[in-house]
Amino acid sequence: MTFDIVTIFPAMIEQPLAAGIIGRAIERGTLDVKVRDLRDFTTDRHRVVDDVPYGGGPGMVLKADPIFRALDAIEAERGGPLTVILTSPQGRRFTQAEAQRLSGAAQIVLLCGRYEGFDDRVRERVTEELSIGDYVLTGGELAALVVLDAVARFVPGVVGDEQSVAEDSFSRGLLDFPQYTRPAEIEIDGDTATAVAEGQRVLKVPDVLLSGNHAEIRRWRKREALSRTLDRRPDLLDDAVLDEEELSLLQELKGARDGRD
Ligand code: ADE
Repeated sequence: MTFDIVTIFPAMIEQPLAAGIIGRAIERGTLDVKVRDLRDFTTDRHRVVDDVPYGGGPGMVLKADPIFRALDAIEAERGGPLTVILTSPQGRRFTQAEAQRLSGAAQIVLLCGRYEGFDDRVRERVTEELSIGDYVLTGGELAALVVLDAVARFVPGVVGDEQSVAEDSFSRGLLDFPQYTRPAEIEIDGDTATAVAEGQRVLKVPDVLLSGNHAEIRRWRKREALSRTLDRRPDLLDDAVLDEEELSLLQELKGARDGRD
């Protein structure tokens, strides 16, 4: 899959992409990512990418013509038509389902916004506009990285275990169950002890995880994932895909909570 990222701050994109799972996928050629400096598509001596807004007001607006030239160059190189995504707080909310859907595209262009926004005529060339959340970033670079990372996880060969990506609890609409690793018991000092339950001096891994009973472990994990989701993100349960066992565990958990109220 190819990604082209159009930005005025290439360093904000290049360095994070060089590390970790995405960096390795780029090295292997599973992902082909090109970062395009918008200033390379200006025609004036000072490589100006922004201008004052018509009608007045604070801030600067990114000019449309360098962006059109950047898109023309990418289209000539990659072949069109392009899927062009604009990252902005005005966009539709980016979700795990959107990430999975976009991973079906062979190529994606990400346009990173800046300043007070783009000249609105840019939207003529935009396929979709996405927001990563209800807050305003100083620019679209971090949002573009978020979109690329979440989409790339679904591209075969990027994450080692494809099955685990497809069956991610979040993809099914649930939060993850808690995980633990060795040691089975951690002695805690005075400072940490004041931050946890009073009188507790040893933090233990839940017994069931040490039991070797795989059926019990699976059921405990389902219950914990449901319980966390119910407590922290009950809205996710409206669209969650649950099996019979999960539905009955959820009824139990809701019943217990109703009893407590
Ligand atoms: N640019 C600035 N804020 C943003 C957001 N919340 N999502 C996507 N792009 C942005």
